[in-house]
Amino acid sequence: MTGLYGVIGDPIAHSLSPLIHKGWMRDHHLDADYVAMQVPDGELPDALKTLAKRGCQGVNITLPHKLSALACADAATEQATRIGAANTLWLKENGCWGADNTDVPGFAAALKGHYGQSVTGKNILVLGAGGSARAVIDALDSGGANIVLANRTTSKAEALLKTYPGGRHLALSLADGLARAKEADIVINTTSLGHSGQRLELPTGHGRLFFDISYGKAAESIRADASAQGWETADGLSMLVHQAAFSFQRWFGIEPDVGTGLDRARRVVEAV
Ligand code: ATR
Repeated sequence: MTGLYGVIGDPIAHSLSPLIHKGWMRDHHLDADYVAMQVPDGELPDALKTLAKRGCQGVNITLPHKLSALACADAATEQATRIGAANTLWLKENGCWGADNTDVPGFAAALKGHYGQSVTGKNILVLGAGGSARAVIDALDSGGANIVLANRTTSKAEALLKTYPGGRHLALSLADGLARAKEADIVINTTSLGHSGQRLELPTGHGRLFFDISYGKAAESIRADASAQGWETADGLSMLVHQAAFSFQRWFGIEPDVGTGLDRARRVVEAV
């Protein structure tokens, strides 16, 4: 029987996950399919029950279900539990779902690809303390970085950093954080302000890395501004493909080719 996999979210129509996973399934001659499933907020538990009955073996989870996905699983990895969110589920032999958060190693692998060296002891400015900042902060903390987490709502940055005590990190307002950008080794943008066409005031980059975890149109203006200020820039497509690769590995025990997945995703994003 053809294995059933997919991604659950709402909205989901523009997800690149089917393209990435189906490409790898073809590359490895797997008898499996991967589909996008639109499931409204609050309906994930029912959707997962139905999928388990239909023999679905694994799903990716995206907005707005990442928190609820963890609650639906009867076992979770340490990183998913620490972050309180899951993006990858697999059906276990007992018929229950296991949960992982591959955004964490996905971000770490993407950053390594762009930065090429260890982040231990580096000063990293992270902008934004919403849902997607969690995986970024978790990976950077594990990597031994010193984080300044700057957010429009400072209390959300403070709350996020409570999970990572030890005195290495600092929560600030967005304006105070941006004022520190000149001392940062790397700046990472996790805010969604590019989606509404807003810009960031960055100082001169002198070749330092500005990594925006958004991609496509949403990241374009902010990246162009950063480039013009002398930053080396990267978008979030590599993070997306790396997190997909960790999910694929979890389901099939196969390490897919990230470069091929990235080329396919990049072609689609650039065609839009
Ligand atoms: P995501 O899951 O993509 O992280 P989110 O949880 O809604 O989305 O978080 C969006 C982030 O972008 C938050 O850090 C948000 O700041 P607040 O916590 O203060 O809301 C930030 N953000 C969104 N629009 C912004 C804007 N116009 N200016 C500054 N920060 C903004």
